[in-house]
Parts: sequence; C-alpha cells; structure tokens
Amino acid sequence: MIEFNKTPYTGNEEKYVLEAMKAGKLSGDGKFTKLCHNWFVKELACHRALLTPSCTHALEMAAILIDTQPGDEIIMPSYTFVSTANAFLLRGAKIIFVDIRPDTMNINENLIEAAITNKTKAIVPVHYAGVACEMDTILALAKKHNLFVIEDAAQGVRSFYKGKPLGTLGDIGAFSFHDTKNYTSGGEGGLLVINNSKFTERAEIIREKGTNRSNFIRGSVDKYTWVDIGSSFLPSDLQAAYLWGQLESIDEINQARLSSWKAYYDAFKGLKNANMVELPHIPSECEHNAHMFYLKLTDLTTRNMFIDYLKSCGIAAVFHYVPLHSSPAGNQASVFSGKDKFTTHESERLVRLPLYYGFEELDQKKVIKATLDFFS
Ligand SMILES: Cc1ncc(COP(=O)(O)O)c(C=O)c1O
Repeated sequence: MIEFNKTPYTGNEEKYVLEAMKAGKLSGDGKFTKLCHNWFVKELACHRALLTPSCTHALEMAAILIDTQPGDEIIMPSYTFVSTANAFLLRGAKIIFVDIRPDTMNINENLIEAAITNKTKAIVPVHYAGVACEMDTILALAKKHNLFVIEDAAQGVRSFYKGKPLGTLGDIGAFSFHDTKNYTSGGEGGLLVINNSKFTERAEIIREKGTNRSNFIRGSVDKYTWVDIGSSFLPSDLQAAYLWGQLESIDEINQARLSSWKAYYDAFKGLKNANMVELPHIPSECEHNAHMFYLKLTDLTTRNMFIDYLKSCGIAAVFHYVPLHSSPAGNQASVFSGKDKFTTHESERLVRLPLYYGFEELDQKKVIKATLDFFS
C-alpha cells in the first residue's frame, strides 16, 4: 500500500530525543524548547515564538490574547479544520464564514468587507496547502476596521507571501507540527508566533497556566504568582527535541517535498490542458512549501470514483475538509456571510495525493501511472 502520509523522520531526531531524556528535565521550556524558540525568532524575525502542544492550542491562546468575548464576531473561511473555529467558539464568539476563492481554496479577500459588522473582532486567514491568502488586502481591511489578524498557518511553515514568512504578517500566527505536516515535533505540536509586541508578555503568562513563571525564571520577579487566566500550553521537551532534529534538516525536507510536488505537477499538465482536472494554483507573490498536492476533478461522484480506483491500485488518496458550516456544530454557532458559491462545490471535487518526506520516486511513478490510467 502506498500511504497518504508518513511521519517525517531524518535520523537526527533520535539522538536529540535521547539527549532530552537523559537531561533529567523533560517539562516545558527545557534546552530543546529554547533552541527551537530562538531558531524561530531568528527565522521569522518575530517578537516571540512559543512552542505549544498543538496548533489547536496556539489558536486557543490567540483567541484569549485578543480578548475574545461572547458576542464578538470572527471572520474565517468555512473550508478549514475545526480548530480554527473552535478556538474562538470556546470563548463565546460567533463565527462568520466567508466563501473561498476557487483557485487557491483560500478565503476570498474581496468578500470579507461585506461580512464586517461593529461586532467583528478579528479576521482569521487560513493559508491552505501552504499557499498564502491575499494578505495585502486582508491587512488593509483589518487596519481600516481596526481588527486583529490571526493567521492560521498550520500548513504554512516555510511558505512566503511577497518574501515574508507566513505566520508573520498578522498580529499573531499559528503553526502545526502534527504528524501530517511538513515538520513534526513527534506527532503533535504547534507554535504561537507573536508579531504584535503588545501580546508578548501576556502570551507567556497564558501559556504558563496564568502565572508569571517566565518572568520569575528570567529573574525579573522574585516569586511567581497567578496573574491572569491561562492553561497548560507547554509541550514536553521531548517534542521540542524531535522538532530540533527536523529543523536541522529543514532545507533538505523542503527541497524533497518541492521536487515530489513538481513531479506531480509536470505529470498532470496534460490532464489539465484536456480540462479533466484542475491543478493547484500558486499566485506569483507566493512561495509555497509543497505541503500538499491536490487535484480537483469535475464533481463529487468522479472524485469518489477516483479515490476508490486508487485504493484498488493500493494507493491511499484522501479528500479534505468538509466545510464547517455544513457540520452539526458549525451549523449552530456560525453564519455564512453571502453565498456559498465555491466552498462546498470546490471541496467536493478535491483529492489529495500521497506526498511526504521520503516518498520514493518509484512509488510516485505508480501514483502518476494509476492517475493517468484512470483518466484514459
Ligand atoms: C488549517 C488548520 N488549522 C489548525 C489545525 C490544527 O492543528 P493541530 O493538529 O496541530 O492542532 C489543522 C490541522 O490539520 C489545520 O489544517
């Protein structure tokens, strides 16, 4: 069976995980967590980068940081993972979904302004497949209406918009190091990226269960105490050690993924020209990280037939998000602003092909051949 995904593993992780185990301190903010924090602050040129147990947790922290209150409205696409919405729903907000663009599957920046009311608190662009949303327009709208921008860059590590890393354009960014992402911290993990310095100190407090422990460790207070709401948003140093092994090989992982992505793209250009499929669109201002390779078929029935066909060839291909507004929880706590012209239709046509670090060329050739066979 050709799997859809395999946990990225370079070989460096083992020695760092063992080193962390032997250090005698595995709780949060150990040696490897600090190494990762410093690496990201330098790489992203952000105010603070804080590892979290998952991207879900990073988004939850972001919702607390912007002081989301019951009744606040948060704008996002419906074509996203549940955590994008849950983080704000947990604080009592109302979710306002905006339709996506069919070319990138990202929120349609031109429809956002119509969804803004005097209750709107933030816009949450989700950079689907590591391809940036149209951030200039989104940031200008946020400025005009005095809104926060929280980037859900779960899939966006090592992707850029006009040369700037995703996750660093809004007030706050959130990354995922889940097993399925380009870089993992051993199965689960995330990062909160603070770009707006007004959130820096409070982010540390919220992450430390609402205490000022980070200040205490730095020596700026002589005892630590409970000062705010918060939770346990720190990962174990074991997770950071695994991630550190990946960060050392970040270019190698990125290049390998990009070359698999390009091989798919080149192989399927003919299908695209024959109008049998649509291929991912990368706007000229975006540099992507080959997080995902998807095809869009004509409709749901053909897409499902294709998935079944690949399965019969021993290949795992999968669809992606079921739009949140059509799920039972999304239905209750959200409103779709305007018409769902593309969200449902485009999501039903999309299928993701196997792509991971260590994807053998021979296996990729089998996927390409099976795909071309299906369409012939
Ligand atoms: C867009 C998006 N946001 C958030 C998440 C949540 O990430 P995590 O599993 O690290 O909590 C995911 C997970 O796939 C995602 O795709």
